[in-house]
Amino acid sequence: MTDKHLFQSDKLNRLSLKNRLLVAPMTRISASVDGVPGERMQQYYQRFARGGFAAVITEGLYIDESWSQTYAFQAGLVNSKQATGWRAITDSVHQHGAKIIAQLMHAGAISQGNIYRPDTLAPSAVQPRGEQLSFYHGHGAYSLPCEMSEAQIQQVIASFADTAARAIGVAGFDGIEIHGANGYLLDQFFTDYTNQRSDRWGGDISARLSLTLAVIRAVRQRIGSDITLGVRISQGKVNDFQHKWREGEAGARQVFALLAESGIDYLHLTEYDALQPAFADSSHSLVQIARLAAPALPIIANGNLSTAETAGMALHQGADYVAIGKSALANPDWPARIREQRPLQAFDKQLLAPSADVKNSELA
Ligand SMILES: Cc1cc2nc3c(=O)[nH]c(=O)nc-3n(C[C@H](O)[C@H](O)[C@H](O)COP(=O)(O)O)c2cc1C
Repeated sequence: MTDKHLFQSDKLNRLSLKNRLLVAPMTRISASVDGVPGERMQQYYQRFARGGFAAVITEGLYIDESWSQTYAFQAGLVNSKQATGWRAITDSVHQHGAKIIAQLMHAGAISQGNIYRPDTLAPSAVQPRGEQLSFYHGHGAYSLPCEMSEAQIQQVIASFADTAARAIGVAGFDGIEIHGANGYLLDQFFTDYTNQRSDRWGGDISARLSLTLAVIRAVRQRIGSDITLGVRISQGKVNDFQHKWREGEAGARQVFALLAESGIDYLHLTEYDALQPAFADSSHSLVQIARLAAPALPIIANGNLSTAETAGMALHQGADYVAIGKSALANPDWPARIREQRPLQAFDKQLLAPSADVKNSELA
């Protein structure tokens, strides 16, 4: 049983959150071609702050001027133009009463639009499953990636750390989320069929998690112990929606215990439906497994928690916060609507159009 409720304030490390509702990270490919966020992205993020969310987690931001960019028109955080663009957004979100966490990502093999490099890198030279996402301007198969060298792995770790320091020190973010989910580079290292390495970065489930743990250590060292740091992980991937961790619930417990020991301030779990059993042979959701394996680690739950009832059930299962994706696009004022008992707008697929365009009526 839990006595937590959605509109209770709490803290993630030193970051005070006025309620338990966050906007889930959502790529909107609405930056300039060179990855600089502008006015329309400011308006886009500001709406969620005005609508009562405690915090917004940004879309995944690329971390270097080499292989990390994933989508054309994706925003980055690797140079002063991009950092200045983000500073205007973080200032605006703060002015409207919310916090903002930067999600940092590396595409690995599933890049489909990179202005810096035509080729891709991955743990192993394995053809990615699935096809490029057409609504992000992609088409056809992904390229066959090159296997990363040790020097390239070290460079990725350094880029996560440098970008995290820039996010906090220059761009004004309140925290960092490392994107270890959804099929991108860190998840490619974590996944058995994309990581065929025989060095220390491959092997059993804990060896496959070791790059994520190394990134956490490097970022923590750069941002210090007081800044909020989280990691997002998932089973499903944008290019392999149904994937389940081969090691099942026992493996999941091992992973959550390792992440709890790593010194992160929160674990962000995303599933297609966060409340459902995570594995065929167990009745536990991923949130319930994480709560058992890491009793003191704050958990953000995500995935189809689009009503007050389902969001409340996630807290009941052991989550501390709920991140809302598509329903937040349809209802940037989701928390205010729930509080005032106003109905939610249904999600419309047109809202997935590749931009963060904001209707004039929403800017009033
Ligand atoms: C348009 C769109 C873009 C997304 N981009 C990201 C992203 O950049 N980083 C990430 O971790 N998840 C991303 N996701 C996944 C969402 O954060 C979330 O996990 C998913 O929408 C399920 O939550 P929901 O049922 O509340 O929508 C994206 C989802 C959508 C719909």
